[in-house]
Amino acid sequence: MSQKKTNQKTSLVKSRFQIPRGMKDILPEEMPYWQWVFEKAKNLLEYYGFSRVETPILEKADLFYKGTGKQSDLVKKEMYLLKTKESGEILALRPEGTLPIARVYCQYGLFNKPQPVKLYYFGPFFRHEKPQLGRYREFYQLGWEIIGENSPVLDAQIINIGYNFLEEIGFKNKEILIYLNSLGCEKCQNNYLTALKKYYRPKLKKVCSNCRERYQKNPLRMLDCKDEKCLKIKKEAPSPLDFLCSDCKNHFQMVLDYLDSLKIDYYLDKNLVRGLDYYTRTVFEFNIKNHDSKMAIGGGGRYDGLLKSISRIDKPALGMAFGVERVIEALKERKISIPKKEPEIFLIQIGQPAKKEALRLIEVLRKNNIEVRENLAKENVKNQLEIANRLGVKYCLILGQEEINEGMVIFKDMTSGIQENLPIEGIEEFLKRRLKINNQ
Ligand code: HAM
Repeated sequence: MSQKKTNQKTSLVKSRFQIPRGMKDILPEEMPYWQWVFEKAKNLLEYYGFSRVETPILEKADLFYKGTGKQSDLVKKEMYLLKTKESGEILALRPEGTLPIARVYCQYGLFNKPQPVKLYYFGPFFRHEKPQLGRYREFYQLGWEIIGENSPVLDAQIINIGYNFLEEIGFKNKEILIYLNSLGCEKCQNNYLTALKKYYRPKLKKVCSNCRERYQKNPLRMLDCKDEKCLKIKKEAPSPLDFLCSDCKNHFQMVLDYLDSLKIDYYLDKNLVRGLDYYTRTVFEFNIKNHDSKMAIGGGGRYDGLLKSISRIDKPALGMAFGVERVIEALKERKISIPKKEPEIFLIQIGQPAKKEALRLIEVLRKNNIEVRENLAKENVKNQLEIANRLGVKYCLILGQEEINEGMVIFKDMTSGIQENLPIEGIEEFLKRRLKINNQ
């Protein structure tokens, strides 16, 4: 017997098909977290006037090359690419959501609508990274973007929504960490890059080989390196904040003022640059206290030059995205439990005619908004009662041959054990009173 059990277990482990590395299945036990996060986000974002948009998983690879620059790790190393059979066109599994949203804005002429346009999305993204806890090749993002206006009040609002989202799903305000910086406009960035290269030039022997390459092709990325020795050198590097023109300085000051007026705490991180190349002015990241500091759970910023780089439309924009896996991992780390919807009624049936009546009764209950669990394939009362107990339901409805003959059903209170015989006709009204379900 025990031999048989072991063999069964091994055959499960050695199943021929396993999920590809870095991807994941979301199993039923996990799903309540996903639904909780999505429902909270949906209500919040729609309250603030955002509309949901979903774009295809595949986009033309060029969209990402043009939009993030060919030098970012994201497009150089991490994109999943495929060639279409008929035209040989190169498509990419979308590595992020901002560029597809920018494409939608341009393609469907959303610049003709009242501005700004507020859009949100929730779906899978793909990056060919080295998998580890918190870093996957397929991961979900929940993101929101505001396109068409450059007022600093929007930068504060985007951050405020991110903060409120984390509070809504259960984090305490003291646990939420926000890191903030400004990269300035293109002009500020050019001046800054000259200073940055000057700082790193004599230190090139001390940085990692990736950073030596970045120094040549994309020096800003050196500040994003997570290598221990590079992190030390980064500490003394000049900050983009010291190279802001007066417009960018004012913009950033106003973002901070608005955040102060909302009483949102933040840390200025003078060397925060983010992993994508399209950002201008405000950039920020979210994390949770004591969560892995190298893995932000969310981030975003302004990208005022991005639309111009992929179209003829020149509009300012900004946004942010949370990594859903990282948010859920942080929820679990904090042992934040999410409310579970427990079923209250279990329907037990004994015999063929009772199964028929059970099928009919389930439909009556469904139309009356009364949730009921059952296991119609089971024959034996004891088995069914065991399942009901395992589910922790408050009440059982029991249908046997005798009840069917008399047009009755047994209503059993599982806490007190008291049973009542009730007419099956109109049982839904009785249950509604018991469960206090509103008749809407
Ligand atoms: P990002 O920082 O690259 O920004 O990604 C946003 C979030 O997605 C990260 O903070 C992280 O939680 C999650 N994430 C990224 N890569 C992975 C991975 N390999 N495994 C698990 N989670 C991951 C963007 O993608 C921008 N489009 C955000 C934005 C929106 N900026 C403006 N608007």
